[in-house]
Amino acid sequence: MQKITIAIDGYSSCGKSTLAKALAQRLGYNYIDTGAMYRAVTLYALENNIIDDAENIDVETLLKALPKIEVSFELNTKTHNSDVILNGVDVERDIRTMKVSGLVSKVSAIKEVREKMVALQRQMGKKKAVVLDGRDIGTHVFPKAELKLFMIADPDIRAKRRQTEFSSKGQYFTIQEVEMSLLKRDMADISREESPLTQADDAVILDNSDLTREEQLEFVLKLIADLQFISREEQSQH
Ligand code: DC
Repeated sequence: MQKITIAIDGYSSCGKSTLAKALAQRLGYNYIDTGAMYRAVTLYALENNIIDDAENIDVETLLKALPKIEVSFELNTKTHNSDVILNGVDVERDIRTMKVSGLVSKVSAIKEVREKMVALQRQMGKKKAVVLDGRDIGTHVFPKAELKLFMIADPDIRAKRRQTEFSSKGQYFTIQEVEMSLLKRDMADISREESPLTQADDAVILDNSDLTREEQLEFVLKLIADLQFISREEQSQH
């Protein structure tokens, strides 16, 4: 089977990473959680007092520190997922807090931060056989990806899912708090200057409000099978 690049973009908490992980596992592809990379930079900024209590970012200091910020992924043998590594430390758990979620849109709007992360993402995905999820994958990071998905879901359902995820980690918030945080992040992501979140013209929209994980996976596997069929047909005509 021809190896392809799969780009999954969409709003916060639409189930992008759940689908991306399932696809990567089924296809034997690598999974790159690009949001985790921006979260890792945000965590670095928090841990190094580059963000103050009033949530102001000292951009100059962050840019100076950027060459020292190393972000990579490593397979977690317990969960069988890739964990994000920040300067040699597994921070997969620390990047999923409400604090980081509330600040990551600001950090990810900084041009130089994006340039560094995008270069890393292109390097990690250059051999194809990869699933990436984020906000600008199909529009900017891999505009020639063979398959682009744009995921959407009802805001109430998204908030409920994220609330459940938080509480499973011992972090408790009301549904209103979670929904406000999600919508604030969406607004920041669609309105920023540097590669804002938009749907690529050739992306397939996937509304998963009422779909199970299995149904979503089957839907995408069918798209891939159709793609492979089309590419075989094209080859046989030449
Ligand atoms: O997917 P996530 O919620 O973990 O992403 C965290 C933030 O990172 C999100 O609010 C916007 C930013 N992000 C981005 O700007 N570009 C990406 N490709 C991925 C995430």
